[in-house]
Amino acid sequence: MDLAGKKILLGVSGSIAAYKAVVLLRSLQKAGASVRVIMTRGASDFVVPLTFEAISHHPVSIENSTNQSWNNHIELSLWADLFVIAPASANLMARMAAGMADDMVTACYLASRAPVCLAPSMDVDMWHHPATKHNIEILRSRSVQIIPVGYGALASGLTGEGRMAEPEEILEFIGRILSPEAQTLAGKKAMVTAGPTKEAIDPVRYISNASTGKMGIAIADALASRGAEVQLILGPVALKPGHPKVNIHPVTTAEEMYQAALQYHERSEISVFCAAVADFRPAEVAREKIKKAGSGLNLKLVKNPDIAFELGRKKKVHQVHIGFALESGAGEAQAREKLEAKNFDLIVLNSLQDAGAGFGTDTNKITFFLKGNKSRKFGLKSKEAVAGDIVDAIESLLKKLKKP
Ligand code: PMT
Repeated sequence: MDLAGKKILLGVSGSIAAYKAVVLLRSLQKAGASVRVIMTRGASDFVVPLTFEAISHHPVSIENSTNQSWNNHIELSLWADLFVIAPASANLMARMAAGMADDMVTACYLASRAPVCLAPSMDVDMWHHPATKHNIEILRSRSVQIIPVGYGALASGLTGEGRMAEPEEILEFIGRILSPEAQTLAGKKAMVTAGPTKEAIDPVRYISNASTGKMGIAIADALASRGAEVQLILGPVALKPGHPKVNIHPVTTAEEMYQAALQYHERSEISVFCAAVADFRPAEVAREKIKKAGSGLNLKLVKNPDIAFELGRKKKVHQVHIGFALESGAGEAQAREKLEAKNFDLIVLNSLQDAGAGFGTDTNKITFFLKGNKSRKFGLKSKEAVAGDIVDAIESLLKKLKKP
């Protein structure tokens, strides 16, 4: 990783993982970056500022006005090519989401013109708390990039999600933002379908499913962070991509999703079909709300276009298609069948029988199935980490393809 000449502002907040920020500082310096460190008061309870001062050869600020000049936060923010906060505690993210500027780290965030990324670190229940999730969504919507947390043993003795990414993973993430050679998908065009579709029955009712778009959005973000130009065809969901360079095309119905996909497929080297598309829609949409009369209601349904199948028929030799199979059982046979029938190069199986996998979860547990009877199983990971594995597989598939 070559970060020569890059200027990185490293923010450290109060978490047991603060000791890993020392290793991160050394790794960034070894990669050639100049690094300045700022800390929260909480962080200084875990690692003394002197440690960072000795290694960075620069003073470490905690308060935003007391030591050097009153506008130190502005100078540091303008100096940096990138602001990385590792670890980012739940409390720090809440203060950032609220727009507070009550210490050096939060003041620098508000003053920063550089890309900002966070490596969250906290206990499993704090990570899953709706308040934390909400704050992360707010920060994502402001283009803050979130470095996926790990799953495993936590300092509390509990096991789960919330571990800060390892310093080498953070370094790799930073490299993707700052170093052009890490933009491994630069010049490539990608299309991703994500979220559910909604098929109206009448003006107040519809057929849909529980997809939140989280998995597909994570894939779109991962593709964009490696330099691909991404078109995200997104069903009706509340979530938004975190990467500022993902182009969003909101749709509601399967037919609308199909039309948007048709528009972007031909020019895309990469197509990922992650949407949970309604296979059927009502044959007719009632103009008025259907009244509750009689003992039941017969609804006539007609088939929606199978987007992946239709575009699979148009696939050219230079294009890679990735599909998903959502099954309620083990699903291996169905996944292999869909791999062939829809002309995917790789299908990602996720099963509702695995805890933490499927709709709405922050995690997923997947198995890859490839042509030639090959498969690869993965453990439970955050959807962001799963997206990273999928994009790694896309890169190796692209390398094996023939030129157009
Ligand atoms: O959005 P989240 O809450 O994060 O949940 C993620 C997810 C569970 C929705 C996702 O991981 C997933 O599994 N998406 C595919 C769901 C699905 O519809 O699977 P399927 O086995 O029914 O479809 C097979 C493939 O054909 C999929 O790639 C699907 O996108 C595609 N398809 C299906 C039907 C259709 N009419 N058009 C399609 O393109």
